Amino acid sequence: MEPVTLRTERLELSLPVEDDIDAIYEACQDAETQRYTTVPSPYERKHAEEFVPKVAADWQAGTHLTWAMREGSEFAGMIGLYRIDGRGSGELGYWVSPWSRRRGLLVEAARTVIDWGFAADGLALDRIEWRAVVGNIGSARAARTLGFRYEGTLRQALVDSHGRDDGWIAGLLAADDRTPHPWPVLD
Ligand SMILES: CC(C)(COP(=O)(O)OP(=O)(O)OC[C@H]1O[C@@H](n2cnc3c(N)ncnc32)[C@H](O)[C@@H]1OP(=O)(O)O)[C@@H](O)C(=O)NCCC(=O)NCCS
Repeated sequence: MEPVTLRTERLELSLPVEDDIDAIYEACQDAETQRYTTVPSPYERKHAEEFVPKVAADWQAGTHLTWAMREGSEFAGMIGLYRIDGRGSGELGYWVSPWSRRRGLLVEAARTVIDWGFAADGLALDRIEWRAVVGNIGSARAARTLGFRYEGTLRQALVDSHGRDDGWIAGLLAADDRTPHPWPVLD
């Protein structure tokens, strides 16, 4: 699949490129990003150098679609639809650069990515899943605001370089109205 560029009110979502490597490296030094995502930890510059061409290859394969979030010329984070299985399912994943957080950028980007994921002229998905390490309140609040419905806890299901964690799981269906619903682990 050819990479797709998406636009929101404040952001452009586009393929990460070589010029982003320094910002990716810097952002991924963040302890929360290392704790709550599958980025390598410790995160070295070579990881960013390897990541950029891998994203382009993953777009061609059509299984993991990652966008760099850009606010003007400022790199603001990474968002993607992953594990596109060809049968209507995918998973939303994201991290925002520490210097761009708490300004609603993630929710703004994710709304546009989700719209495109469900759109007939996008991926035409039926279901988008969200998973997070138990206790990742910031990510859970974002997912609740986006309309994801909390579906439960997956015991020791999430694996990263530190080992296994219990995970929260939530889902959003194409037909859902996206009105935030109560989450028992947040409310
Ligand atoms: C989680 C993360 C992506 C949020 O990005 P952001 O741009 O700051 O999010 P937004 O400004 O769009 O805020 C979304 C919601 O999350 C809440 N939120 C964000 N960070 C929070 C935090 N640290 N603690 C509590 N709530 C938080 C906001 O208040 C907002 O809540 P509301 O919608 O109920 O008003 C960002 O903190 C991050 O990159 N964390 C580390 C990586 C990570 O956890 N990725 C997700 C893995 S599942």
